[in-house]
Amino acid sequence: MKTKLESIREESLRAIRAAADPGALDALRVQYLGKKGSLSAVLKQLGSLSAEERPQIGELANRIRAGIEAALKERGEALQSALLERKLREEALDVTIPGTPVALGARHPLQIVWDECVDIFIGMGFQVAEGPEIELSEYDFDRLNIPEGHTVREWTDTFYLTEDEKVHLRCQTSPVQVRVMEKQQPPIRIVSPGRVFRKDEIDATHSPMFHQMEGLVVDKGITMGDLKGTLNVLLRRLYGPDTVTRFRPHHFPFTEPSCEVDVQCFECHGEGCRVCKGEGWIEVLGAGMVHPKVLAGCGIDPEEYSGFAFGVGLERLAMRRFSISDLRLMFENDVRFLRQFS
Ligand code: PHE
Repeated sequence: MKTKLESIREESLRAIRAAADPGALDALRVQYLGKKGSLSAVLKQLGSLSAEERPQIGELANRIRAGIEAALKERGEALQSALLERKLREEALDVTIPGTPVALGARHPLQIVWDECVDIFIGMGFQVAEGPEIELSEYDFDRLNIPEGHTVREWTDTFYLTEDEKVHLRCQTSPVQVRVMEKQQPPIRIVSPGRVFRKDEIDATHSPMFHQMEGLVVDKGITMGDLKGTLNVLLRRLYGPDTVTRFRPHHFPFTEPSCEVDVQCFECHGEGCRVCKGEGWIEVLGAGMVHPKVLAGCGIDPEEYSGFAFGVGLERLAMRRFSISDLRLMFENDVRFLRQFS
């Protein structure tokens, strides 16, 4: 029995020293020290020994067990530290290596103007409202008092999506007015920037897709004076405090009275030059007092409330602001153009 124990000791210590990983070490622990392990198997036979032999063998077995445990522990620690060392070596970072530069983009000129306009109006207590780009003709035309036969309703002007002409790509942001008013009673103060679509040939100043920002204010006692004051704030914030504006009578079906707003040409100060095409003025937006029919159609009593609305083309603002000569530059995504705005 003694030789049996000795050979277990030798064999186990050799195996432990050779164990390649913690898993193998665990298996050895079970094999030698486990309930069904080789050491237990020997100890089960202690009963067959004489009274003198029993304590000796028992003691030897205990020493061997302690020896195996110590060897397991030692090998375990050695494996752990080898593992750690390897990890440290493999995952070593050279903090002196120069990093890979991350190219920082720039906001698109249109986005700059968009953000600027929204900021100006938020400063005046407006909220931003959104509307769908695929719009019902009911909202883009009928409820804006745009009658059958109006040119914007022609196939040649509008991208219809259905045969019956009931759904199309909106040709202005004005339907958002209707969407807001039918949901909300006054006071209303919103702006709504977004994409609009018209069947225009693309050239230096036209595109079948462009951007507008709609504005709408409805409350008790709103007058044309509020419209002028608000738009003057916008244009002076955009173009400088000395900007001269002109409100010129015009016609829109959904406002009455309606106007177009011009700014005096800052190149020639009204003399007439190449920039303003000899006019002395540059048209920037359309506006007017919300038509009583439009208010009533949204469940707002025109006897109690009045309002103004405006629509401004964002490409035009951006082109003026950054002296961009050709609208197409804004949609061609040439990085050489875009980089100039960083
Ligand atoms: N929707 C008009 C256009 O696209 C602009 C406008 C908006 C005019 C609101 C008056 C009031 O030309």
